[in-house]
Amino acid sequence: MRHFLNTQDWTRAELDAVLAQATEFKRSRFGDQLKGRSIALVFFNPSLRTRTSFEVGAFQLGGHAVVLQPGKDAWPIEFDFGTVMDGEAEEHIAEVAQVLGRYVDLIGVRAFPKFVDWAADRRDRVLQGFAKYSPVPVINMETITHPCQELAHALALQEHFGTTDLRGKKFVLTWTYHPKALNTAVANSALTIATRLGMDVTLLCPTPEYVLDERYMGWAEANVAESGGSLQVSHEIDSAYSGADVVYAKSWGALPYFGNWDAEKPIRDEFKHFIVDERKMALTNDGVFSHCLPLRRNVKATDAVMDSPRCIAIHEAENRLHVQKAVMADLIRHAP
Ligand code: CP
Repeated sequence: MRHFLNTQDWTRAELDAVLAQATEFKRSRFGDQLKGRSIALVFFNPSLRTRTSFEVGAFQLGGHAVVLQPGKDAWPIEFDFGTVMDGEAEEHIAEVAQVLGRYVDLIGVRAFPKFVDWAADRRDRVLQGFAKYSPVPVINMETITHPCQELAHALALQEHFGTTDLRGKKFVLTWTYHPKALNTAVANSALTIATRLGMDVTLLCPTPEYVLDERYMGWAEANVAESGGSLQVSHEIDSAYSGADVVYAKSWGALPYFGNWDAEKPIRDEFKHFIVDERKMALTNDGVFSHCLPLRRNVKATDAVMDSPRCIAIHEAENRLHVQKAVMADLIRHAP
């Protein structure tokens, strides 16, 4: 079964085809690629963009979306094996995924880490559980990576620069402050897609503790070896921003403190000055700024940065609709 769990699982040619199809969908929104088809959107966490864009996207292609929120409007689910299910969970993923697969043609899953034990969370067991038991393709709607966001960002950059060839562009993925320790998913994904596209990538973060998980650093290293890009880690704000073509911001919790956020908070609080502001953006090569959204203004980025014509975050958010339609159409076309 071909799923869309991570861009790293798909070839560059497959990703390019999806981006090309997304561009077509942006020109002409309606189609019949999902006519008579359905997608279950399973949300364990809140969403504005993902839910809306998948629901609208399925509609625009003639399909239907069913939203389920286990533990709220659907039964709580157990994901471990051999468990005596005498707690909250009313049913097991083995039945949930198989039953949904009898009703629908695609399943989307959003399941953030629990933020208690990274060794457990990095197994991505909710997404992997759906993928294991589902008889239909599964789409990652953000777990410990966010591949749909990657494609939306890639398309926004290709549109901005007027080319699908982004090699040689300097891409800065900058950590920013947030009052809470957040998921590393979008940071993992930004690093993955930027290196895949052959850009010269700088991961800017306050201290070595904020470097991302070795799996994603490893993907990035493998990607630059293949794509001809480059990868460096920096803790120096001004040199990282200098000459950047793209600044992508995200906040995330430091993995060594996973589950011990009280210990991380005073460290994180020292780096509020990582906010993306006009002074830093002036160091760039007239670079563009983006963020996956939602974004706390004047915490992660200033009003002036968000309201600048160099901010492409709204374009990126729009592109979620187009790329997800392309992913759904591709998976349906190739489904057995
Ligand atoms: N960027 C993103 O996934 O937005 P939502 O959390 O609103 O879906």
